[in-house]
Amino acid sequence: MALTFPTFSQPLVIGGFELANRVFVAPMAGVTDRPYRQLCKRLGAGYAVSEMAASNALLWATEKTSRRINHEGEASPKTVQIAGADPAMMAQAARFNVDRGAQIIDLNMGCPAKKVCNVAAGSALMQKPELIGRIITAVTEAVKADGIAVTLKMRTGWDRENRNALQIARMAQDLGIAMITIHGRTRADKYQGNAEYDTIAQVKSQIQIPVVANGDIDSPEKAKMVLDYTGADAVMVGRAAQGRPWIFRQIAHFLETGEKPPDPTEDEIARWLKDHLEDHYRFYGEYIGVRTARKHIGWYLKGLPGVKLFRETLMELESVQEQMAAIEKFFSTQHEPSYQ
Ligand SMILES: Cc1cc2nc3c(=O)[nH]c(=O)nc-3n(C[C@H](O)[C@H](O)[C@H](O)COP(=O)(O)O)c2cc1C
Repeated sequence: MALTFPTFSQPLVIGGFELANRVFVAPMAGVTDRPYRQLCKRLGAGYAVSEMAASNALLWATEKTSRRINHEGEASPKTVQIAGADPAMMAQAARFNVDRGAQIIDLNMGCPAKKVCNVAAGSALMQKPELIGRIITAVTEAVKADGIAVTLKMRTGWDRENRNALQIARMAQDLGIAMITIHGRTRADKYQGNAEYDTIAQVKSQIQIPVVANGDIDSPEKAKMVLDYTGADAVMVGRAAQGRPWIFRQIAHFLETGEKPPDPTEDEIARWLKDHLEDHYRFYGEYIGVRTARKHIGWYLKGLPGVKLFRETLMELESVQEQMAAIEKFFSTQHEPSYQ
């Protein structure tokens, strides 16, 4: 079958790094930590951005933030996303992360979370293009000498009457941003309704730097539809990859060949979940690791028989050994014949 997405087989180069493919994992606070990013990359994601890190220097020494900006052993490029509204603080945060190994800096103008937006950061910044301009200038200046690329992630606008993504994208391109990711919703939409791809298509047709399409991509077919519709250079997948890190290779395979690969077997899911958890426990230690693993485990097992009851059991288990043993048992009972 002929390739319908002509540029897919050509590598995308950002800041001197050739990305493995054009299917990216979205930054998700509390989800895309280092163990998960590494697994996504192993299972086909061409690129991963860290969870956002605060630009407030007072937080850098906290355990949570230092974990969020930890990239030890991760495949390049190592991209750290920063969030904030003060140009000087953002520049300082970018420098801090570059000095600690970040190879690309991503600016978050897309997150509607209250914690971020209370200080008018994240997607609230879309209401203040002039401030975005000052942030971009300060950050690009701060890391220019190291040849570090700065990218931007944003929404389509701040509400449906004010879809100003094109205006911001043009300005960002002029100020030296290397790639723009657009989530096809406005800030006011939060996560409601369906993502729209017209604004992404419009931006892509008007600017020269790479554009990444994001929002509601949950299958190989949808990824292809969004790429065809928008002409974007890559797709980014967030929620649909929770507990399904293999979705990246399924999408990449479909885009390359036009054939849809089969879903993984339960044995494969069990193996990848266990690999993920081992890395997760090593990264967080037992106490935090066991607790933060629960949501990942729930996502992996979604749809399997008996998962509802298993989730309740899971909440009571507090050690690595108990959690792993329960998962082993859960998967072994999946193979038992049903006499109902
Ligand atoms: C739990 C969660 C955390 C998120 N955290 C971030 C973040 O730290 N930075 C960011 O730019 N976007 C964040 N997002 C937005 C995603 O990157 C993505 O733009 C959004 O989920 C839409 O893509 P999807 O439909 O594929 O999930 C987050 C989304 C979710 C669900």
